[in-house]
Amino acid sequence: MIKAVLAIETSCDDTSVAIVSDGGWVQAVVSANQDLAHSPFGGIVPEIACRNHSLSLLPLVDQVFQQAQKNWDEIDGIAVTARPGLMGALIVGLVTAKSLSQAKEIPFIGVNHLEGHIVAPLLRDSTYQPPDDFSYPFLALAVSGGHTSLYQINAFSDYQVLGATLDDAAGEAFDKFGKSLGLGWPGGVKVDQHSQLGDVKAYDFPRSMIKEDSYAMSFSGLKASGQRMIESLEKHQIEKELANLCASYQEAIVDVLLAKLDRAVHKTKIQKAVITGGVSANSRLRKRAQEWAQKKNVQLVIPPLRYCTDNAAMIGYAGLLRLQRGEKSELDLGPSPNSWPTDFKGKGR
Ligand code: KG4
Ligand code: ZN
Repeated sequence: MIKAVLAIETSCDDTSVAIVSDGGWVQAVVSANQDLAHSPFGGIVPEIACRNHSLSLLPLVDQVFQQAQKNWDEIDGIAVTARPGLMGALIVGLVTAKSLSQAKEIPFIGVNHLEGHIVAPLLRDSTYQPPDDFSYPFLALAVSGGHTSLYQINAFSDYQVLGATLDDAAGEAFDKFGKSLGLGWPGGVKVDQHSQLGDVKAYDFPRSMIKEDSYAMSFSGLKASGQRMIESLEKHQIEKELANLCASYQEAIVDVLLAKLDRAVHKTKIQKAVITGGVSANSRLRKRAQEWAQKKNVQLVIPPLRYCTDNAAMIGYAGLLRLQRGEKSELDLGPSPNSWPTDFKGKGR
């Protein structure tokens, strides 16, 4: 019987370890953020991510046991992100998970990172739990620095891709804009903060594919338009207009995301939705999504920020559910930069 797992997440630039038990209860989650290491380069440097994962991972494993007040005897399996992600970064987590699994003689399971984001709203801890009546099927908008996808979640492990971005992820569009404005990296949270006092209608940024009769999205046009706008302004104008620029640009992203989610509700008649991934931390997206849900009578769940951004708790819950179904990975499981075709039904990821 699988009652609790140790979970490891190293797919990108956050090193995270968690202990998750039956029912999605998060016993503890500890993470090492690498933003400071990458920010001088204005983006994630894969080699630096790998090195930092290698340095942080085992100390975090010790720390999570301390924090959860558990020991190895209480751990029945190991969940680890196996795809999609940066190959070198994934290898660090996978090799560690395999080694621990061999040493402790417990099974391990490789998890799709996006499945982690999908189950994140179903996690529980002392201050968060999903609504009692929230159940399958539901719609999931997973929006992060690397992915922007809309799914129909029929049941655990039965995921239909409705649509995804054809080019850049929404988080990438946020980060590029923030970087060009000189707000540092990652820029999403900074753009969010500077937007607070801005006018969302001050500038007219493109909302690509918003009216198209599909779930496909595109943010590369917006990214280029933001870039051109910044280049056309003098430094003092950018400083003066910063709040308006950020608010208008952010609004374009939020408009597109909510239009596609709204379309999915109308077409599928599923009145339940979750928004997850790092960009779901965005305060404007949260506010407007709540207003939309109320107006359209949609039961909307957005997990707390600690489960929105990359974390091992979500990987732990996905892995726990898979191990409980009798699945396990073999030692020859390799990392993959992409999802496997069997992970999701439909086109895209
Ligand atoms: O899920 P996540 O932690 O990592 C990936 O899998 O990419 O998402 C990180 C992304 C970054 O692009 C970051 O700028 C964005 O989430 N982000 C935000 C906010 N907080 C994080 N974007 C907009 N507003 C925010 N408040
Ligand atoms: Zn993620």
